[in-house]
Amino acid sequence: MTTDIKITKVEKSKFESIDLDNVAFGTVYSDHMFFCDFKDGQWQQPEITPYQSLQLDPSARVFHYGQAAFEGMKAYKDKNDDVWVFRPEENWKRICFSANRLAMPEVPKEIFMNGLKTLLSMDEKWVIPGRGNTLYIRPFIFATQAGVSAAPATEYKFMIICTPVQAYYKGGDVKVKISDHYSRAANGGVGATKAAGNYAAQFYPTKKANEEGYQQIIWTNSTHEYLEEAGTMNVFFRIGDKLLTAPTDERILNGVTRKSIITLAEREGITVEVRKVSVTEVIEAAKTGKLKEVFGTGTAAVIVPITGVGYKKDHYDLPKLDSAYSTMLKGKLLDIQYNEAEDTFGWTQKI
Ligand code: COI
Repeated sequence: MTTDIKITKVEKSKFESIDLDNVAFGTVYSDHMFFCDFKDGQWQQPEITPYQSLQLDPSARVFHYGQAAFEGMKAYKDKNDDVWVFRPEENWKRICFSANRLAMPEVPKEIFMNGLKTLLSMDEKWVIPGRGNTLYIRPFIFATQAGVSAAPATEYKFMIICTPVQAYYKGGDVKVKISDHYSRAANGGVGATKAAGNYAAQFYPTKKANEEGYQQIIWTNSTHEYLEEAGTMNVFFRIGDKLLTAPTDERILNGVTRKSIITLAEREGITVEVRKVSVTEVIEAAKTGKLKEVFGTGTAAVIVPITGVGYKKDHYDLPKLDSAYSTMLKGKLLDIQYNEAEDTFGWTQKI
């Protein structure tokens, strides 16, 4: 296996022609893309080429059986114009975990890391300076083998593409509806992976919640008694001065932002209880004024404060706090990500 990357550069960068202040999340891509094919039982030579369309056989298995998984990461530019990535090994480990569960080959660490670092060095100007600007990085793997037999493919493509982004939720008013019917995942299923289909399955229930005025759903377990994730994010509840969040298991994604927030909160002296959080206790806390905050965490969204929660026919608005944990913890996390505070955890890597 060679990990040397064959590189073809763009003739002319499209960077200057894009109005970066006015692009919707994930709609514009940087000049280059990285890819590496798996065939004949091994990974082939990795390549970086100008960002372009792919040609795939219409019977490629990804289209029929959804054999695909992805990751979400970000690169940040600090005040000295150095570029940083946040806990990249966690994303590499997780794409291998997802690949295994979907019977796809694991991506070798050297291919993932060399591809990531070389691509970011080449497209470094796409990491826009200034807090709030990031380059969102999307590594993904999918089955390319032609033929609609329902069995794991023998051919795959691993790719990395990058898109300059600002806030995932513009406007800031995010209300969530607790699901009392739909479930995102089941024990023994693929809920803990970033299987592409996990996200497709959320679109319809989320559309129904949108029609009721909610931006996202809080997913519950199969009996709808326990709160698990919020939309595409992990979720935290502040009851009194404690933070509660569900344990990651077979159904819940082991979010990199989630675990970083738990570490940062504990460093700040906040009690974090990682345990099953029941719908009943959260609704009871909302009724008695003890539910002070709900927030979602994820790479794309970072930390999103929830302004209101719906459950069945009722709606509970959350208080506007001057000293919200979500604001404080987001600040601490961004300080580390933008290299504005010492990274005592060894989370960031310079490109
Ligand atoms: C991320 O937060 O990076 C995710 O993977 C969620 C995605 C659906 C935007």
